[in-house]
Amino acid sequence: MKQLILEGIEEYAIDKTRPEPELLARLAEKTRAEMQFPQMLTGRLEGRLLKLLVQLCRPRLILELGTFTGYSALSMAEGLPPGGRIITCELSIAARNMAQAAFDQSPFGDRIEIRMGHALKTLRTIDEELDFSFVDADKESYPEYYEEIVPRTRPGGVILFDNMLWSGRVLDPKDAEDRAIDELNTTIARDDRVENVLLTVRDGVQLIVKK
Ligand SMILES: C[S@@+](CC[C@H](N)C(=O)[O-])C[C@H]1O[C@@H](n2cnc3c(N)ncnc32)[C@H](O)[C@@H]1O
Repeated sequence: MKQLILEGIEEYAIDKTRPEPELLARLAEKTRAEMQFPQMLTGRLEGRLLKLLVQLCRPRLILELGTFTGYSALSMAEGLPPGGRIITCELSIAARNMAQAAFDQSPFGDRIEIRMGHALKTLRTIDEELDFSFVDADKESYPEYYEEIVPRTRPGGVILFDNMLWSGRVLDPKDAEDRAIDELNTTIARDDRVENVLLTVRDGVQLIVKK
């Protein structure tokens, strides 16, 4: 993933953001040491943003697509009100195993349920109203995820899509992933069902509120 923000500024923003708990710092380290593509992990800046947004929105149910090793799920779980829970979807068994091990060590881990399989299939089995969603799985499916999530979200509910600047490739889309992200950004900005801001945090975060 290409860094989009000036290098010194990105580091400055991370440094001036509250540190993550020790367990999350260790999880990030373990992920970097043992997993392929560790750059997929959201990390401190975005993780703390997710926690704060969850604290503000007080969701009862969060849906996450793309657990990886559990960093973003644990960040959101920290901000949940009592009784709140997270359903997170993952395909990779290795990722699931590392995530579940981290959840088992966390005081917030029992708020998180991992569902294995293609996220689209899992998503279609969910018949509860969504308060908050964080989408961070395969990019080609993003448009389908969006169309499944918006009708399932309650009015006032929040939806976040990660990597929506896609290392800058949205400026000159070349392949199916680039086009899926660029076209979804256009769809969201024109969709009367929602309000949105495309935040230039890390690799771009679409912050969407259902009307
Ligand atoms: C960018 S990573 C998620 C990072 C995670 N949110 C974090 O903060 O550490 C994307 C994850 O989505 C998973 N994934 C990819 N395609 C998927 C699909 N169709 N259904 C479910 N999970 C998928 C990958 O295995 C990978 O672990």
